[in-house]
Amino acid sequence: MSEATTTMDVDAGTRAKRAATGGEERTVVASRVAAICDMIEHHREAGKPLTSSQVATISSMIDDVAGTKAPPPRTGRRSSKKKRCMISVGSYEDEGVVGEGRFGVVFRARHRGTGQDAAVKSYRSDYDDSIKDDGTRMLLREACFMAACGAHPSVVGFHAVACNPWSSNNGGYSLVMEYVGPSNLGQVLDDREGRPLPEAEARRMMRQLLDGAAAMHQHGIVHRDIKPGNILVVADNNVKIGDLGLAKSMHEKAAPFFMAGTRGYMAPEMLLWTEDHDAAVDAWSLGCVMAELVTGKMLPFEGKDEMDQLYKIFDVVGVPGKRAWRAMKPHEDLDDDVQQWRARQRRLGHRNRLREMVPEEVLSRDGFEVLKGLLTTDPKKRLTAADALRCPWFANNSNDDVVDTPVADTAASRFQGQQVVVTGLADRHVIRWACARIS
Ligand SMILES: Nc1ncnc2c1ncn2[C@@H]1O[C@H](COP(=O)(O)OP(=O)(O)O)[C@@H](O)[C@H]1O
Ligand SMILES: [Mg+2]
Repeated sequence: MSEATTTMDVDAGTRAKRAATGGEERTVVASRVAAICDMIEHHREAGKPLTSSQVATISSMIDDVAGTKAPPPRTGRRSSKKKRCMISVGSYEDEGVVGEGRFGVVFRARHRGTGQDAAVKSYRSDYDDSIKDDGTRMLLREACFMAACGAHPSVVGFHAVACNPWSSNNGGYSLVMEYVGPSNLGQVLDDREGRPLPEAEARRMMRQLLDGAAAMHQHGIVHRDIKPGNILVVADNNVKIGDLGLAKSMHEKAAPFFMAGTRGYMAPEMLLWTEDHDAAVDAWSLGCVMAELVTGKMLPFEGKDEMDQLYKIFDVVGVPGKRAWRAMKPHEDLDDDVQQWRARQRRLGHRNRLREMVPEEVLSRDGFEVLKGLLTTDPKKRLTAADALRCPWFANNSNDDVVDTPVADTAASRFQGQQVVVTGLADRHVIRWACARIS
């Protein structure tokens, strides 16, 4: 076994301990999710498209995850024998497109029989070539992650995987989920044209987002693409985390992308392509979202490529110390540059400049403690979502539920943002990547 593999195994153990803290029920969910991901990956490795019978079996297992309340019976007969019929999107009345992203088109829909409101996501067939054949697998993964935590009030709820004879995505399947509207947070922030949210309102949203993220992490799921465009806003200003399409399970053998997300919200270790990144990447992204809520604009971290972005981050929060730098498992080519930069910052007496960007007028001392904790470069020292919720900013302000001014006053829902996906090729210097701005 190679040294790298051994290190990954040790880290996986640490992560598992960190992630699986939710007791018996959550451990069952986490291992079922990993088993489903491994099964999907196994089919991918076999290099053949999934048959309709395999999709039906996997979607039935996903239904089981959604309904998991207790460990499965020990006979092992349950999932192998039971196969439910898949529903069809034909059972839903199409009420028009409500959003589009790099991978998916989302329709609002109403169930013809029950009248239940829903959103139906179909993966597009025109996305990046490197993932072209993976539409059905990506859809099943997203469904599985959503099923695992969709019952949480701050995560979009899962309804079903449905056959979609009209969808051109290889195989023709769609994800039916809870409709959450009228907007996404990216749209809300755009409409506010740089006006910051009042601190109490930002805290209310952050409480919900951190709570949703903590629930995901308890199930061993890392979202990897938390950003305003993937946060849905309900009319009464409640928020829900959506788009779990790039998520991974901490317990699956090999996630399909070793690096994924949106550059402006990527944690330093993700920018350094640390393959075994964990839930800490979501905490960083939530820190970026929090800063955007209270200042009305993105942190000035957005670089023209991964390294530029990383340097912009270090310019604000400081170059990490040697131990923290090593913890991010960077490529050794970068060591000299970073060492010189660290020495220069030391000489000039560089201090963390985050407070200049997020001053006390927009964020109190308690709030800043949370922000600084989330935007800590060392992933091992970064505040976890669950720990952030225990900070005084939240603990001393439990009456945030009263909303005076609605922030989501638009009925339009349109995708905004920049998404980057890097495919999982072995050589970190030979990658193909896709980067698109869609408006
Ligand atoms: N459950 C939902 N209810 C209402 N609108 C949604 C829902 N899910 C997604 N959307 C809208 O569709 C857009 C694209 O969906 P998303 O899942 O982010 O696709 P992609 O994976 O292509 O980025 C979102 O930004 C949002 O505006
Ligand atoms: Mg999205």
